[in-house]
Amino acid sequence: MKNIIVTGANRGIGFEITKRYLELGHRVWASYRNKSNAKDLLSMTKSFHNLTAFEMDVTNQESIEIAFDDFLQSNLKFEVLFNNAGIIDWSDFENVEPKSFADVYEVNVIGAFMVMRNSLKTLHQNSHIKSRIINLSSRLGSIELRGNTQLGGALAYQCSKAALNMLTRQTSLELKPKGISVISMSPGWVKTDMGGKNAKYETDQSVTMILSVLQSLADEETGIFIGEDGERIPW
Ligand SMILES: NC(=O)c1ccc[n+]([C@@H]2O[C@H](COP(=O)([O-])OP(=O)(O)OC[C@H]3O[C@@H](n4cnc5c(N)ncnc54)[C@H](OP(=O)(O)O)[C@@H]3O)[C@@H](O)[C@H]2O)c1
Repeated sequence: MKNIIVTGANRGIGFEITKRYLELGHRVWASYRNKSNAKDLLSMTKSFHNLTAFEMDVTNQESIEIAFDDFLQSNLKFEVLFNNAGIIDWSDFENVEPKSFADVYEVNVIGAFMVMRNSLKTLHQNSHIKSRIINLSSRLGSIELRGNTQLGGALAYQCSKAALNMLTRQTSLELKPKGISVISMSPGWVKTDMGGKNAKYETDQSVTMILSVLQSLADEETGIFIGEDGERIPW
């Protein structure tokens, strides 16, 4: 049984990851940003005693610190962090506004980084228990794939996921000596509010694939960018 944190767990991929790990008997701490938007998650705490829902806005440093200080005071230790919270702006080169560019970076890059850094005090750091941080990235953030996929044009989002990938790569080096693996993972194109109804996968299909890939990864694997199909994605 693992202790798992999932950010942005009130809907979409984060909600499904939470549900699936609960069904497998793991203990999940699932964050939501706003109670009014988290009814499904909060009602799931009634059916799953292994679920704790907590409030955290990844753009609010104080809110991140409060959450992790609470864990620390409760002597909680985690093996897995899903850095899942994310936003998109579909605007292209011609239309993207500096403000929305900054907003996307604030959540997808700075928010993910602040969660990662604060999580360190509560992640297992020893040679016996391996911990893993999974940054939910996207093929849209692959510099090498640009021009080779039909999608594209969400300029701020693409840049933010490329930056998140650099965070993965850099932190994987820094955290390797502590026994913590950091990977970037793409869930594929998924039918969520973000992915839209024309996406390739239902949410449960994508999460089934994600869980199976994660299960097959050796503990030592770190600093990689991998897809829901288990294939390496070029940076
Ligand atoms: N769907 C896809 O096709 C696809 C493809 C590639 C990668 N991804 C990545 O997968 C992750 C999940 O995507 P999704 O499709 O499930 O998206 P989604 O349905 O739009 O859900 C996004 C989640 O992030 C949360 N969030 C946004 N801003 C936040 C903040 N400041 N603080 C805390 N939580 C915040 C949202 O909370 P609220 O409800 O409060 O807004 C929501 O729970 C994202 O990182 C996304 O970039 C998705």
